[in-house]
Amino acid sequence: MSYLAKNYNRKNISFKYGRGSYLYSIDNKKYLDFVQGIAVNSLGHAHPQLVKTIKKQSKKLWHVSNAFLIPEGEELAKKLCQKTFADYVMFQNSGAEATEAAIKVARRYFYSIGKKNKNVILCIKNSFHGRTLAAIYASGSKKMTEGFGPKVSGFSHFTFGDHKSLRKKITNRTAAIMVEPIMGEGGIKEIPDWCLKELRKLCNKKKILLILDEVQCGISRTGNFFSFEKSKVKPDIVPIAKGIGGGFPIGAVLMNKKVASSMTPGTHGSTFGGNPLAMAVGNTVMDIVSNKKFLKNIRDLSEYFLSNLNIIKYQYPNIIKNIRGRGFLIGIQLYKDQTAFIKKLMDHKLLTIRASENIVRILPPLNVKKNELNKALKIIKKVCGELK
Ligand SMILES: Cc1ncc(COP(=O)(O)O)c(C=O)c1O
Repeated sequence: MSYLAKNYNRKNISFKYGRGSYLYSIDNKKYLDFVQGIAVNSLGHAHPQLVKTIKKQSKKLWHVSNAFLIPEGEELAKKLCQKTFADYVMFQNSGAEATEAAIKVARRYFYSIGKKNKNVILCIKNSFHGRTLAAIYASGSKKMTEGFGPKVSGFSHFTFGDHKSLRKKITNRTAAIMVEPIMGEGGIKEIPDWCLKELRKLCNKKKILLILDEVQCGISRTGNFFSFEKSKVKPDIVPIAKGIGGGFPIGAVLMNKKVASSMTPGTHGSTFGGNPLAMAVGNTVMDIVSNKKFLKNIRDLSEYFLSNLNIIKYQYPNIIKNIRGRGFLIGIQLYKDQTAFIKKLMDHKLLTIRASENIVRILPPLNVKKNELNKALKIIKKVCGELK
């Protein structure tokens, strides 16, 4: 009997240890892990540099209050700002906390300039911004909010791709538009560059803020440090988490100077956010994943992988409907429910995870090797053949 609450539908498998792209189960089976904690372990399992950093930092200092200066956090914030649009960073512990803090920053900004009623955040219907109360209502999903009322107000929604309804929904109460540049849980749906550009223009015209949730698609996963960089758009606020900790819980909100000015002492805080141990790990992850050569390798290898997935799609046109995504944030869209496909992949020792719209989500570590990608392609092709 398990004493854990039943809020997860867990697969009946557990792991002894992990190395790089592989997980080893307690019954001594070796799995190619293309889930990686849902885009969390950006450098795979037990990366030697991360192990070294944790060992070293754990002997020095784990935690001090944010009432004191934390040099490790100063260092990571500086690196994040120097590599991105941001001027300031506020550390949290998870993605939902980061998106909530992003919402707080947007509202606080308008409050600070005397526009107290400008507090509605416009989001995509059935998106995903986390599981806290505000985040589930931001996501606009009936399933996620069912039974958790009363409704958290201050959010409105438009349908993905429906530009007319987006424009209509902007009122004088709107503070910000918050979207994922590539919807992860929502089915690896990408907002095209021209749309992001238009979105930025629209926000400028209406004098509202643009929040881009890069919790899943950020931290080099697409071959750019942020997925929106390709569009050359500059957001005002960006929540991050997942990949920046490489498996250690870290969240953060990145923001420009304009909005950061409203976050004065006492306006936000977190006991654990930005602790020295987390920050030491974040610094090591950042040094590796923001390296230009590392990013180019992600672009090259993912292009190879995606073109091979497309070949499999043409070989099995009745099974695979579409290949979605960019870099190592990939979705194989099936015609049918993906459960049987994912189970078969697992039987062949390849771990993947579902997303909306019949998607089999594939999230290799960012330092995956070409032979591991080839192994995965072989298994995917085999399963297509078995389910034909
Ligand atoms: C885009 C996005 N935002 C926010 C979150 C919430 O992150 P967390 O589960 O760390 O709270 C997720 C998690 O999957 C996500 O994909």
